[in-house]
Amino acid sequence: MLLPYTMFHHSICQTCLKKITSITLRRYSVKTNNTKWKSKNVRQAFLDFFCQKHDHQFVKSSSVIPGKGEGTYFTNAGMNQFKPIFLGATQDHSELQAYKRVANSQKCVRVGGKHNDLDDVGRDYTHHTFFEMLGSWSFGDYFKQEACSMALNLLVGVYGLPLERLYFTYFGGDPSQELKPDLECREIWRELGVPEAHILPYGMEDNFWDMGDTGPCGPCTEIHYDHLGSRDAGILVNTGLQEVVEIWNIVFMQYNRLGAGHLVPLPSHHVDTGMGLERICAVLQGTRSNYNTDLFLPIFDAIHKETGIGEYGDKVGSADTHGLDTAYRIIADHTRMATVCVSDGLLPGRLDLQNRLRMVLDRALHQCHQVLRVEPGLLPKLVQPIIDSLGDPFPEVSQHASKTQEILMEAEDRYLLMYSDGRKNFEKLMRKNPELKSVNGETLWRLRDGWFGHPMSPYYIEILASQFGLSIARNDMEDLSSAGQQVPIEAEVQYPCFTAELLNELSSREVPPTDDDLKYVPAILKFNEFPTVTSTISCLVDDGNKLSERVNVGDRVGVIVGKTQFYAEKGGQVGDVGFITSETGEIEVKDTQCSQGHILHVGIVTRGHMEKGQELKLDIDPDHRVGCMRNHTATHLLNAALHHVLGSEVKQRGSHVSPGKLTFDFSCSVDVNIDDIYRIESMVWSWLGKGDRIVVERELTPLKHALQLEGIVYLENAVYPDHVYVVTVRDPGTQQVISRELCGGTHVTNSEEIEDFCITSLTGHTSAVKSVVCLTGRHAVKAKHKAVQTEQMYKDLITELKSNEVNLDKCLQLQKEINAVLGRAVLPKLVKDDLKQKMDSLGTDINTLINKHAFMILEKELTRRMDEPGSDIIVHSFTVKVLPKLNKMMKKLSVRRPLILVVQATNNTNAYVCVPKHSPITSDTLVQELCKMVQGQVTQQEENYTVITVKGDNFDMFLEAANRVQANYITEKTSATKN
Ligand code: ALA
Repeated sequence: MLLPYTMFHHSICQTCLKKITSITLRRYSVKTNNTKWKSKNVRQAFLDFFCQKHDHQFVKSSSVIPGKGEGTYFTNAGMNQFKPIFLGATQDHSELQAYKRVANSQKCVRVGGKHNDLDDVGRDYTHHTFFEMLGSWSFGDYFKQEACSMALNLLVGVYGLPLERLYFTYFGGDPSQELKPDLECREIWRELGVPEAHILPYGMEDNFWDMGDTGPCGPCTEIHYDHLGSRDAGILVNTGLQEVVEIWNIVFMQYNRLGAGHLVPLPSHHVDTGMGLERICAVLQGTRSNYNTDLFLPIFDAIHKETGIGEYGDKVGSADTHGLDTAYRIIADHTRMATVCVSDGLLPGRLDLQNRLRMVLDRALHQCHQVLRVEPGLLPKLVQPIIDSLGDPFPEVSQHASKTQEILMEAEDRYLLMYSDGRKNFEKLMRKNPELKSVNGETLWRLRDGWFGHPMSPYYIEILASQFGLSIARNDMEDLSSAGQQVPIEAEVQYPCFTAELLNELSSREVPPTDDDLKYVPAILKFNEFPTVTSTISCLVDDGNKLSERVNVGDRVGVIVGKTQFYAEKGGQVGDVGFITSETGEIEVKDTQCSQGHILHVGIVTRGHMEKGQELKLDIDPDHRVGCMRNHTATHLLNAALHHVLGSEVKQRGSHVSPGKLTFDFSCSVDVNIDDIYRIESMVWSWLGKGDRIVVERELTPLKHALQLEGIVYLENAVYPDHVYVVTVRDPGTQQVISRELCGGTHVTNSEEIEDFCITSLTGHTSAVKSVVCLTGRHAVKAKHKAVQTEQMYKDLITELKSNEVNLDKCLQLQKEINAVLGRAVLPKLVKDDLKQKMDSLGTDINTLINKHAFMILEKELTRRMDEPGSDIIVHSFTVKVLPKLNKMMKKLSVRRPLILVVQATNNTNAYVCVPKHSPITSDTLVQELCKMVQGQVTQQEENYTVITVKGDNFDMFLEAANRVQANYITEKTSATKN
């Protein structure tokens, strides 16, 4: 039953509240792994409280990419989508007008703009680039009193938090802006039973909330939680201490900010509240760390499992000695942000938000490669655990899983390239100036602009400079970064497209629809050649989407002709590409679009010019078209196989057919296992009809008739014309219908022309909507070829491991290569999964074997070199997977001369310094010299050796430093000093 607000108001009277509080005080004890308050229950309890108990309407989270009028940064708060309501600027008939009380959980990203948390992420327990904001709103409905009592009732009555741990801040006023203290708010908290000492005033900075530099704003009251309790923590509020954290912000929207210091009152008063789901989950799960909750731990488990690095330890600051936990946090946080952004349609790129997404991804990848030093391919593997916690509230996240994984993979390729190019730049710079200690001014700009070979972003410059031991003046760096942001490197290219205005223009000029039936004419002669079509230009469209009489070389144009064989994007199949030529010029067609019967060939004039009315020849790119035909027919076969294997409830949810691959999204309640994948793939494969030809027929049929055909597949929500094409795949021998679908796409004429087929990925095995990616033709052949090669490498590795004289380098190289292929290459899923499993179980064996052999070789090498003439110090470098074994060996090792062993382990670089008792060079001297050169720290001090560690990818630098130390102690010099 919904309680009217007034009844609720009575229900939170003093006595009741005190009762609730004393009960909860007794009941509440902080426990980890609290199972009741899993994040999904926390979210649901919030929504139930507002929507069911207090008559709020649920409004879906808006996209993290801002809508019109919502600003130019990411959506940073729940209120963004409601901005027009606050400003009294809703459009007529907009559904915003009906909202009075609203609640939701909003996807928020705080990277850039007024609320930018990027630099804090990873360093503490409570900041994120992406987080969910549980929000409630009153639009001109209730105000302060009710908002405060609802908040308190939820926290204490529903979530069961003890009042003694909560602190309430209110706006203390700002005389410079003639803003009075919000004493009304203070009074409300008092009346609700909050002890005086827990109600605290703060100024503009903490208790006046602005959306941005302009826009709706107002005083706010925040609720803070003391993780320790049993003390007066008032003094710790707003100090940034992790023990006392803000959990809920309640803003009383009263003003519109027009600029610094310029506030005007809003037409009416509203309430805007926001509580970070991650923080309240931490509180309810009895931990100080948002990362130590069920929102992040499964992602950490995946990182641990996929990479084999030590488990997440939830340490921050200096306690996190090697930065592992920080890396865990950054990687998980940033991958969540990227997953959400990509599923909302944003791709990494060079401008604005795209650039911010790229920067966040680069930071995550930096942690993967330079801190954890893991194999490529980790980020895509984190998408599934992210979907597990975000897929329910935000279904778009699971719907775009495979796309997200692809984007993450591409981002990594790009990162690795940038990184190695960047290193080359620095190496060149250092070769030219061996004495260089810092990079500033001119050099910075030159690095950025590619004077040393490759252009670099300020972010990479900063990272690499520190790796090369070079400092950068803060001001110079800031200048460089801000300049980079202001000057877009590449403006976004605009091609013509259909707009409402253009379509009106076409209809007022009575431009006839394009005849595109020729798109179905099959290839002639050899398979790959399509007939040229001759037609005339009926309209030319310029890049401002206006009709034009003439276009010239370099122009981006749209061409409408009388008839064409170009297929315009529809039904999931991408538009054709190709060439249009006339006597005077040529256009490269990059896409084909259709609207209201008009077909627009979109492209660029690559030669001469073209004029309206000219005769021209149209040629499609045969490879592009054939790829689409193969993939489209294969999509139908796949759909049929899915029905056979998984049952008739399989429902198509979407498909995408391009020349390179096909993606098919479908729903079905059963889980899909590896056996099913095998059966699906084999079934499609068997229909490719290597013996008998399986034919593909297309028939134009009245819709009514088509819908009655047995086994016909069509999309339930699609609107079909009166006459439709029925595409049937049939076995001519048995006459058995394999697949029959309503479809306007282009297809091969018999299934043999598909040539080859394989499934390369299936995501969402256990979720409601699953997505399969498949390849056909030469793409499938290539993937299978790669699979055969990789399997061979695996066999070689096994043979090598079993041989009597194991070649360590070869094993390492093979392991690395196989893992790199598995991380990144597109392979048939069955092979890839199988090999991954084998490599995983081989991992420990390989490590043991590799280490055993490595240590053997090391021992031999050191014994050999111990009496070698040359310098007084032996420097030797060594790669190892498991450090403890080396420690054991060092304890046993008796050296006759000082030794510096530079060791590259999985997560960092160490130097082991070992000096015999009566050596003229003391251990302290060597350790000090090395530490200074590499800015390293002593991390282990044993009786006969000392370990120096530097974080990150500093192996070469370390080795070079050791060699320099060695050079200072050549025999002659030492003897000279002695004499
Ligand atoms: N809009 C307020 C915030 O983001 C609730 O904190």
